Amino acid sequence: MDFENIKLIRLQPDTEILPFDCGDTDLNGFLFDDAKKYANDLIEVTYIIQDKENTLAYFNYLNDKISHTDLDGNLAKFIERVGVYLPKEKGGHKSYPAVKIGRLAVSKDCQIGGLGKMIIDYTKGNFTKNNKTGCKFITVDAYRKSLGFYEKMGFQYLSSKDKKSDTRLMYYNLEAIS
Ligand SMILES: CC(C)(COP(=O)(O)OP(=O)(O)OC[C@H]1O[C@@H](n2cnc3c(N)ncnc32)[C@H](O)[C@@H]1OP(=O)(O)O)[C@@H](O)C(=O)NCCC(=O)NCCS
Repeated sequence: MDFENIKLIRLQPDTEILPFDCGDTDLNGFLFDDAKKYANDLIEVTYIIQDKENTLAYFNYLNDKISHTDLDGNLAKFIERVGVYLPKEKGGHKSYPAVKIGRLAVSKDCQIGGLGKMIIDYTKGNFTKNNKTGCKFITVDAYRKSLGFYEKMGFQYLSSKDKKSDTRLMYYNLEAIS
């Protein structure tokens, strides 16, 4: 990969989106058809990694939370699974602030070249060292085919309820690196 000509940009209304194919029609389509509208509507912010000719990867963020309701309101299980809890006498926390990776896609030509890991590492840094609001977890609704990738990045499953679903809710505790 020619790193000299690679840049990371935050998608703007006038950004020219260079060709991109990650092998997944929905993820490709979102970038070209929806990403600008989602940014304009303040729903998701999309970042693009590109060289002079192509989009190499993109990812986006939106605010999220992890809550005991994700585990059917089972607070004991939530505490055990998530491993953090403010005692009831101090107000108690039944949910925690998070950032969701809405989508993460690397172009077919660059897959298994380390870009996905770089984006996850960048995200971990963004929401600990450079965070502007409290954020305890990264979450992702991971596609079945990418579960192994997120496992390698240190993400865990919150519930077994979605074991058979097309996507699974996974989380990473940012406390591990702060
Ligand atoms: C999944 C994806 C984002 C990973 O990015 P990538 O740049 O290809 O992955 P990396 O090269 O950074 O891989 C980091 C590690 O994860 C492993 N890995 C990558 N994709 C994997 C997968 N789908 N399943 C299991 N392991 C995977 C790599 O082998 C590597 O392991 P290593 O550290 O032991 O060498 C990318 O392949 C992709 O965009 N796929 C298609 C779209 C998609 O599924 N997106 C996820 C939506 S939730």
